[in-house]
Amino acid sequence: MTMKINESIVSEHVEIKVFLGVVNVIFKKLYDGSPIPKEHLEQLVEFMTDYIDSFHHLKEEKILFKYLEKYEMYGKDDLVGELNADHTMGRMLKNSLADSIDSYDPDNKEWAKGIATTLQLFSATLIHHICREDTELIPYVEEQLSDEQKQTIEKEYAELQEDFELSKRELSKLDQLVVYYEVDVAECKKC
Ligand SMILES: [Fe+2]
Ligand SMILES: [Fe+2]
Repeated sequence: MTMKINESIVSEHVEIKVFLGVVNVIFKKLYDGSPIPKEHLEQLVEFMTDYIDSFHHLKEEKILFKYLEKYEMYGKDDLVGELNADHTMGRMLKNSLADSIDSYDPDNKEWAKGIATTLQLFSATLIHHICREDTELIPYVEEQLSDEQKQTIEKEYAELQEDFELSKRELSKLDQLVVYYEVDVAECKKC
């Protein structure tokens, strides 16, 4: 049996799907006119920045995608290019969210609707993205790369795990939001 190297990517996707479960509860509350504490919105941006972007997407871009491009393995219809573009879209939405939180104005219906729309777009983009990585990219990678190529990638994954302390901190803060917003974790993991 050939070696598999992407279990960590898939398990990080599960954590991100739980985070998106929190995002979904929050954007629905905002559409319904319920106020959301500023610090919770700031925690969403923090998780997007520290866990999703600086940890998970960095791992994919600086290691996995980098090697796939080097080996000229772009996937069907430039799958890697499209996944990279999703990361850029996620970053733009996160920056837009951070800007809106700077002018926190929970009594302003238009402001709340703007935040809700950005969160909804972020969630939809990432759910679709993770689904494509889990069902298209990862099986393609595990099947197409040689064991030698996989070992090269795995070594760099291990080096990056030195930052794992940061990601663990982010995950404990996520747990608090999951409890506060009564998110159905089992349901999130299914999608
Ligand atoms: Fe990705
Ligand atoms: Fe991913």
